[in-house]
Amino acid sequence: MTELIREIDPLRARLALARERGLRVGVVPTMGALHRGHLALIAEARRRAQVVVVTVFVNPTQFGPNEDFKKYPRTLEKDVEACRAMGAELVFAPENESVLYPPGDETRLRVPETTKHLEGAFRPTHFEGVATIVLKLFNVVGPGVAVFGRKDYQQLQVVTRMARDLFVPMEIVGIPTVREDDGLALSSRNAYLSPEDRQKARGIPEGLSAAVAAWEAGERHVQPLIAAARLPIAAGATSIDYVACADAVSMAPLDELARIERKAVLAIAARYGTTRLIDNVVLGEDPAPIG
Ligand SMILES: Nc1ncnc2c1ncn2[C@@H]1O[C@H](COP(=O)(O)OP(=O)(O)OP(=O)(O)O)[C@@H](O)[C@H]1O
Ligand SMILES: [Mg+2]
Repeated sequence: MTELIREIDPLRARLALARERGLRVGVVPTMGALHRGHLALIAEARRRAQVVVVTVFVNPTQFGPNEDFKKYPRTLEKDVEACRAMGAELVFAPENESVLYPPGDETRLRVPETTKHLEGAFRPTHFEGVATIVLKLFNVVGPGVAVFGRKDYQQLQVVTRMARDLFVPMEIVGIPTVREDDGLALSSRNAYLSPEDRQKARGIPEGLSAAVAAWEAGERHVQPLIAAARLPIAAGATSIDYVACADAVSMAPLDELARIERKAVLAIAARYGTTRLIDNVVLGEDPAPIG
């Protein structure tokens, strides 16, 4: 049975009981509008913990002033149903912002180096909001494990860095990106795409697949890998924020003229109409999105 909890105190009471019984708690932080990607996170949490908490909270502090906070899809009833179908024990969905940001709240977390480039460069306050809400959720839930998606690759590195730096006594797990049949990464924001833009967005998995193909053919220089990824994306995107290679742990960008010597991620962000999509592959590790 899945229980919907809207306040911190009852959630804590419920989880304290579980921990007393020696049960391991797993948490899956989300902004709701759940899709198959989220369901894969819940399935992974169930494999690793006996009590699974899915948090559903559209976190205001991770949205920029001109971003889509107000119009972000909110589908709580359906989300609770999906969590029920997946066998999650608890859904924590605060009714309003003040549950997690009560009056007087002012503390914010920064992870400056990991967030300097890529998403952090285009969304300057985003990861401060992410790191802050994730630590709040960890402190509220007290999980043994948290599960995140590698679609948001830099976010996973930020959370991992933060938990390590602050000695948060838990495990952080990242799972592979769940994709549509044509390779497009599932994302709640895909719902914003017009049918035409949805077609054009296939350029993203095409580009990433071209880069993986070049990698598998032995290409190790950054510039040609980026060029291979960029071409199909540029064909359909309204605009491209970046197509870049970075160190897969520190997220430091790799010079276009460099040769890749350590684990690297090729990450992209592009707009289709007003919808901004991100995706990535870890070179030498992730399969081509179009197989
Ligand atoms: N396609 C996917 N495969 C695996 N994990 C995913 C996928 N999409 C999102 N996630 C993960 O789900 C968690 C919650 O993310 P979030 O609720 O922001 O969903 P989202 O689809 O990324 O939404 P949005 O497109 O608005 O950012 C994150 O850990 C994120 O990486
Ligand atoms: Mg997201």
